[in-house]
Amino acid sequence: MKDISVTFTGLKFTNPFLLSSAPPTESDSNIMRAFDAGWGGVVTKTIGLHPVTNVAGPKTKFLRSTLDGQLSMQKRADTALHSSWNWELISDKPLDWWIPKIEGIKKAHPDRILVASIMAGSGSDKELAHWQDLAKGCQDAGADAFELNLSCPHMDRKDMGSNIGKDQEQVSIVTEVVKEVAKVPVWAKLTPSTTEIVEEARAAFAGGADAIVSSNTFPSLPLIDPETLDFEMNVDGLVSSGGLGGPAILPQSLAKMSQMTSALPDKAFSGIGGISTFPHALNYFLLGCGTVQVCTAAMLDRAIGPTVIKNLIDGMQQFMEKRGYNSLEDFRGLRRGNVVVHSKIRRPEGKDYRGGFEAEGYAS
Ligand SMILES: Cc1cc2nc3c(=O)[nH]c(=O)nc-3n(C[C@H](O)[C@H](O)[C@H](O)COP(=O)(O)O)c2cc1C
Repeated sequence: MKDISVTFTGLKFTNPFLLSSAPPTESDSNIMRAFDAGWGGVVTKTIGLHPVTNVAGPKTKFLRSTLDGQLSMQKRADTALHSSWNWELISDKPLDWWIPKIEGIKKAHPDRILVASIMAGSGSDKELAHWQDLAKGCQDAGADAFELNLSCPHMDRKDMGSNIGKDQEQVSIVTEVVKEVAKVPVWAKLTPSTTEIVEEARAAFAGGADAIVSSNTFPSLPLIDPETLDFEMNVDGLVSSGGLGGPAILPQSLAKMSQMTSALPDKAFSGIGGISTFPHALNYFLLGCGTVQVCTAAMLDRAIGPTVIKNLIDGMQQFMEKRGYNSLEDFRGLRRGNVVVHSKIRRPEGKDYRGGFEAEGYAS
């Protein structure tokens, strides 16, 4: 059996597969089940100090496609998953609730990695002190690392989530403030909804981040039902921008990741977005990621993904066996250099050029 353990930001993981910050990690019972199922690490649902009240009604739904491309959140036969859509806020449990839970989890699973996702505001000493209070509380309880949530896409507050993840100065400041008190590694989870994500990544590293995590969900709307003319998810007919996750975002998230791993090949990256099988995760590894994280696929597999993690582990072991690799380091980053500027892609010789009419969809 191949050893698939990895060391990432100085922490030893039994395997490079983590549950990301989301409903699968919203409670200690879920997290313990996740460790029992085999996940190498978990990132807790984001913990904050401000009061949180979620919208009335469902917070997450799943968009599915029929074979002929009909997309809907309604349950229908013979469909495949397209994406998850959510407008859930961070954990509605306070820090005081989380501290004993983190202690209990670490006591029961001292060798598994528990990353505390934290979030506060920015732009004032009071908010920056909140980041430090959260970090100290979770660290004293036994958290092995922090993930800074600079990426939640549905925040009304201008000083939080993806609103500060788009602001390079704030990204640096927040990272630096947490690093001042942190005795454990600090990861920064960035938003994909920026023009040049490499700039935010540089800003986080300038503030002392040990790794970048990407992607959070992509800003999006649910679809409108053609019968009722209502958004498929709404409260009193109203909707607000939420986050898209799952298979639909895998290629988009890879594009963001590739920009960062190419520009900063010596830094540590944890990839998220659309992973449910080892071939999906392999994309992130070949682009240079040292760990990957999963949300949507786990939510749909008994809440914490026991089958998903089994398939990821088996898939990685079989892949390494077949190729004769002995560790992730043998293949990490192998395709990082194959993503180049458009002008570097070979063009056909003049006489062979057919103007693109060989594309699928053109009549022969
Ligand atoms: C319902 C739901 C809640 C989420 N809550 C958080 C959160 O509290 N903090 C965070 O950093 N990311 C949160 N996320 C984002 C996920 O951690 C992950 O980045 C995203 O879903 C993409 O991964 P996926 O394609 O595997 O779902 C949430 C996602 C979903 C679907």
